[in-house]
This record gives sequence, C-alpha cells and structure tokens, in this order.
Amino acid sequence: MADAFRRFTVVRKHHEAEGITSFHLVAADGAALWPALPGQYLTLRLPVPGGPVLRTYSLSSDVADRTQYRISVKREAMPGVPAGVGSCWLHDHLAEGDTVEIAAPRGGFVLDEASARPVLLLAGGIGVTPLLSMLHRLAQGGRRVVFVQACENGAVHALRDEVAALATASGGRIVARSVYRQPSPGDRFDAEGVIDKAFLQSLLPLDHYEVYLCGPTGFMVGMWRLLTGLGLREEDIRYEFFGKQTSLPRLAAEGVPVQAHVPARAPAAIAGLAFLTNPAARGIEEDLPAPVAPDAAPAKGPTVVFARSGREAVWTGGTLLELAEAAGLEPEFSCRSGICNSCRTDIRAGSVSYVEQPLTQPAPGKVLLCCSQPQGRVVLDL
Ligand code: FES
Repeated sequence: MADAFRRFTVVRKHHEAEGITSFHLVAADGAALWPALPGQYLTLRLPVPGGPVLRTYSLSSDVADRTQYRISVKREAMPGVPAGVGSCWLHDHLAEGDTVEIAAPRGGFVLDEASARPVLLLAGGIGVTPLLSMLHRLAQGGRRVVFVQACENGAVHALRDEVAALATASGGRIVARSVYRQPSPGDRFDAEGVIDKAFLQSLLPLDHYEVYLCGPTGFMVGMWRLLTGLGLREEDIRYEFFGKQTSLPRLAAEGVPVQAHVPARAPAAIAGLAFLTNPAARGIEEDLPAPVAPDAAPAKGPTVVFARSGREAVWTGGTLLELAEAAGLEPEFSCRSGICNSCRTDIRAGSVSYVEQPLTQPAPGKVLLCCSQPQGRVVLDL
C-alpha cells in the first residue's frame, strides 16, 4: 500500500513569539496540496535521532490558501521527553529549504460552516493555531465573532498581528481581545489576569453562541466550567486537547485543577504526545474525517461482545472505544483519531468499518477502537 506521507519543503521559517516558530510548507513535487478544513492538523514524520516519530500540529493558516500550509509550533522542552524530539527538533534542525514528511490534514475539531450563529473562539497560548485557521474562514463570511487569546504576556503572544488585521478588516464584525496573566511593562492587552465571568459577560451580548476552545488542559477545564456556568449548553462547546484526547466534561466533573493561566512550559498533558513515538505507527492510508452524527445512529444496533471482561453492549452510535467506555471498560487510548495505535485490539469475530481512516491500517485480526464501528455482531478481545 502507498505511504500516506509526502515530502514538503520549508519555504519560510520565522519567529512568531518567544519559543514559537512558524513553518510554511509547499509540496516538494509541486503537486496540489490536500484540501483541509479550518481547525484540522497535519501529521509530521520527523527523522529524529533514534528513529522517526510522528507529531501532529494544527494548521494556523487560511486553508483556502492552496499554495502552502503553515504550522506554528511551540518549542516544548519537557521533563521526561528526550531532547530533540518533536517540537525541539523542528525548532533546532528544520531549516528553510529542508524537506519533511507530512500526511494529509485530519481531525474532527473543525468549524461548523453550515451554522450562521455567532462564534466565540477561546485560545489558551499556542491553542491559538486551529482557532486562527477558523478565524480566517470566518473573516470571509458574515457571522459575528469574538476571539479571545489568553497568554502569559506579550512576549509569548503569537500571531497577534494577524488576528488584529482580520478584526480590523471586518469593520467591527470580529472582536479580538487579549488577556495577559502577567503582563510585562509596555505590553498592550485588554485585560489582566484570567478570563473570568465578568470579562466574558462584558464582551458577549446575549445570544446563542457556538464556542471553540483550544489550549492547555487546565485552561480548557476552567473555560468549560465558566461557560457552562454562564448557561451555555455543553453541545455548543467544541474543543480539542493537545496530545491525549479526553472528555472535558469528565475532567471538569473530576475536579481536575484549573490552571488559571497559560504556563510558560507545556502542561503535563502534552507529554501524552509521547505516544506518537510508537514506531509501529506508520502511515499508509489517509482520508478526511467523517465524524459520527449521534442522531443519525439507529435506535438499536448490533451487539458487541467484550470477551475477556465477559460484558456485552448494544451499539447505538459512536465508536467502539466510546461503547467500551460506556460499558465500564478502560481500553488504552491516546489520540482517539486513528493515529497512534494505542487502542489497537484483537477482533475475534465480526468486522468493523472506519469512521476515520487509520493512519496505519491495522493488521488482519486487529481493529482500532477509537475510529471504528461494528458491522453486525462483533466479538472483541477486551
Ligand atoms: S487512540 Fe490513537 S489510534 Fe486509537
């Protein structure tokens, strides 16, 4: 099977803010770019010492630009992660003129372009990247947009001028605000401290907002509590974690401590990206995501048997991973999007279909729970 990766050339590498660098990428063979949706990410296969690793980075550019991609990467030098891996390698070794292997854009954290509702984009630190891509798309439409970026201070405030330019050009339809936890002398910002209830209430006229949230885990948990406390419906809040994907309502309910600011260093959650060092995770097939529509599921579906745990459940929608979790099991997972192979499980009987194509097709007899659904009765070795 064909490799899912193509080579891209870095045509521009530039400093955005302290520790944050953008890479502009064009297809090395001059062929057309893959299409992308606002909010999606690229998977890069990086030739770091010790063997290639996979890393995912959100597109920060306007996806309507079919001449080049842009990713904006924060240099993460974290405890427990070997030096030179991932973002450090990109910052330290990937130069203009070099090439790098990239797989097609993917990810279900995308702007709902069918909606006409006003939008609130809430970014914590480098979580700005997918939201900026969405902002570019929104700038071309007629929806009202409020864009808030929280960060430590002006030194680490990436892509600020680009956001401001889009807001200015919108003639007031897009409102952009910045909140600095610890501003430095000379910083220009709109509020000091953290995004709180009073700040949001001052910014948002009463309306039926659609919210997109991206940033460190503590930031997102805090924003989730704030937004739901203000009466927003959970289904109106969309979010994406760095690294290991999980459920924001679950974290909020579990009392995960809220980081009341964006730390200078990455949150521990980012260490979850270490799963991408799995050398078995090699791409061979790509596809755009096809998120499962919960209300499109049949009222009663096939039975899924979890053989080792002696449980079974009736599938009514969602992925096999979600079904297993709902049945009280705790399968391994990390990316929840078919990249890392963490959720790979033996299938003893039956077959599955994929709602999002795995980056690496599992071997016969194996399935990826996070992106599959049963086709009839299925028996899993779980
Ligand atoms: S959790 Fe990563 S492939 Fe399923």
